[in-house]
Amino acid sequence: MDKPFVLKREDLLFLRKLLYKMRSPGTKFDEKEFLSKGKEYLFNYAEKNVGPIDESRRNFLKGILVGISLLSVGGAIRVLNYLTPPEITLKSFPWFVIVDSNGQPIKASQLPVNNPEILLFQYPMQGDITFLINLGDANGNPVEVPPTEVVIPENGKKYTFPGGVGPNKSIVAYSAICQHLGCIPPEIHFYPANLVKPGGTFPDFLPPEAYQAAMQAKAIYGLIHCDCHGSTYDPYKGASVITGPTVRPLPYVQLYWDSNTDYLYAIGMNLKAPVILGRSSDLSGYATLSSYNEQTGCPQQLLESNETPSECYTILQNNGNPFAAQGGGS
Ligand code: FES
Repeated sequence: MDKPFVLKREDLLFLRKLLYKMRSPGTKFDEKEFLSKGKEYLFNYAEKNVGPIDESRRNFLKGILVGISLLSVGGAIRVLNYLTPPEITLKSFPWFVIVDSNGQPIKASQLPVNNPEILLFQYPMQGDITFLINLGDANGNPVEVPPTEVVIPENGKKYTFPGGVGPNKSIVAYSAICQHLGCIPPEIHFYPANLVKPGGTFPDFLPPEAYQAAMQAKAIYGLIHCDCHGSTYDPYKGASVITGPTVRPLPYVQLYWDSNTDYLYAIGMNLKAPVILGRSSDLSGYATLSSYNEQTGCPQQLLESNETPSECYTILQNNGNPFAAQGGGS
């Protein structure tokens, strides 16, 4: 069987979860059932143990079953393993300067406040997409984001979110991979304060429960909501959970602002916070960014003003304004 070129991140994530469940004693994959019912059993098994599978995921599963001998479950597991590249692990968190698509470091003071566009960079490894958000109030003034204690509803443990950075301490960065089942932008995205302000017009693109819960939680500086199943997070309070089904906050990326150059750096993650969904550790992944220098490990290193990095950078991508089509964006 030919190795596919690149699997989409969602498919990798799905495969990893499926393999994990197939190997787990509590969710044992029944070989006899698989032999008698074939792919329908696999579809039902995946749906029950991993989550809803739509038509494209069904086709994806059908595709990977081609060539598998239905004589053994081991065969299926081997093929699934083959499609899932092994994880590699970094020794420590790299320091990456955040640059624009031309490779120029972005300036924190020029990052728009309450920007409804989806701004993403990858950190610490390829595919680890992360929101970059400059939080403001309903009038568009930047708000200082103080350090906060964040609770993980899943286990009651706590960790500290260090707060915002930049000239107004208003810039934050959170994983853009939903902690429930891994939906990514545009399904999960940031709703700025001017779109969800208390007493404002009810935003018809947000489910009423999420809006009510956000108002009750006093999430007045906007929210992050996932359209897949309704999880809502508070970006002002370390992306803590406002509504489930997620039971984990979004992990944050620690930023550093160099006040001399106004450049922003992604410098680490909190190992006490939940792990990026689908990873065994925040330091593990399938591939490093092409700008990562394996020899140096991208240590703490600041650029001079107007200096362009040749390595150790992460590119900020603009994935567009999800509200534009709904008339809610600015
Ligand atoms: S993936 Fe289910 S709420 Fe986001």
